[in-house]
Amino acid sequence: MTEHWTPASWRKKPAKHLPTDYPDPAALAGVEQTLRGMPPLVFAGEARRLKSLLGDVAAGKAFLLQGGDCAESFKEFHADNIRDTFRLILQMAVVLTFAGGKPVVKVGRMAGQFAKPRSAPTETIDGVELPSYRGDIINGMDFNAASRVPDPQRLLQAYGQSASTLNLLRAFAGGGYADLYNIHRWTLGFVADSPQGAKYRELSEKISEALTFMAAIGVTPESQPDLHRVEFFTSHEALLLGFEEAMTRVDSTSGEWYDTSAHLVWIGERTRDLAGAHVEYFRGIRNPIGVKCGPTMEPDDLLRLMEALNPKDEPGRLTLYGRFGHDKIEARLPRLLDATKRSGRTVVWAIDPMHGNTLTANNGYKTRPFDRILSEVKSFVEVCKAHGVHPGGVHLEMTGQNVTECLGGARALTEGDLADRYHTHCDPRLNGEQALELAFLVAEKLKEERIDAALRAAV
Ligand code: PEP
Ligand code: CO
Repeated sequence: MTEHWTPASWRKKPAKHLPTDYPDPAALAGVEQTLRGMPPLVFAGEARRLKSLLGDVAAGKAFLLQGGDCAESFKEFHADNIRDTFRLILQMAVVLTFAGGKPVVKVGRMAGQFAKPRSAPTETIDGVELPSYRGDIINGMDFNAASRVPDPQRLLQAYGQSASTLNLLRAFAGGGYADLYNIHRWTLGFVADSPQGAKYRELSEKISEALTFMAAIGVTPESQPDLHRVEFFTSHEALLLGFEEAMTRVDSTSGEWYDTSAHLVWIGERTRDLAGAHVEYFRGIRNPIGVKCGPTMEPDDLLRLMEALNPKDEPGRLTLYGRFGHDKIEARLPRLLDATKRSGRTVVWAIDPMHGNTLTANNGYKTRPFDRILSEVKSFVEVCKAHGVHPGGVHLEMTGQNVTECLGGARALTEGDLADRYHTHCDPRLNGEQALELAFLVAEKLKEERIDAALRAAV
């Protein structure tokens, strides 16, 4: 690990989940060269700002909310989809901020979340075997041989789509769309329309009262322009290292390397080998980064990864996302929490309650039961509390669209409903109502924790 790092040094390490079957490697190299000349998507100073906010999360002073599609796609690229997921994240953040009494750091799984690790290299339908779909930045989802061939032009299309998405997100975040009073009005609409809305009326009325009080004492978007704006960051799994390498630039203000494809990038559960290409690439970039921690992760593996990825123990540099499954978290998380605590190092612990709770419905759809997702988040908060660790955040696959991909929630979606609007390009996402409902239920949990902590501090 002490060897010289360059943006390309990962190429000498064993790499998992990277496509090796581009028919014309020279064409791929040409596209990567073109990308090297493209403007960065984010500025290093923004990544440092996110790192500092995540440092607050690590210190127990803030909460991370990260969410978006499992896989963005060229087909679903539309301003309405971007707007609706952005708005949903803001609505959830208001609820969580109010209940938890802490600022919420808002990060989209957006503007670059295109490459997917797959459980099998091929897929067989009706006796026909083809290479698996690996995300729109690599090949196409249509089940035919031509579409499954990796195409380098897709890197350029993904770059272009990321730039447009980020442009719209920046406009929404700074242009008045994110006005706190508006955000809350949308949530009141949800409370009125959702079948279980009445359950959330009390909390939303309290938020309304707080806003009315603020307006009465003159704290309005007119007097406080910050109420009009939000800080919003982007993130994705930096799986396709050739693309990330091409987006890696020296920051002229600090002289350090940043992956300018997103503010935060993470290493997936399947590519976190210490000696592998992904860890090699990540150790050299200065962005805030994440690592997924699944049920097979051992405390020693985690400590070695922390040493490799954050040797100077910088607050906010490293976020760990547990993703065990509702039935495994209580057995697997405590040892990892103990290890990070004993090490004395600074990390953010967050929960991804999606990837350990996927199942195949009787009709063949990949789905996730809402109750299991909620149960894993609740267990996370409880296990963290028992171990004296701040439950720092949630990482969700969700969309503002009214899809039917996860079971349950207030409308009690059933297996029979899945076929109605099952649009995901990879894993099943919470729809807008399910995600907001989850935020209300997690908010109740955070509120209990906040009150418990205040009582503990008072005695
Ligand atoms: C993902 O976040 O889409 C993903 C593939 O997760 P994991 O690496 O945890 O399996
Ligand atoms: Co996923």
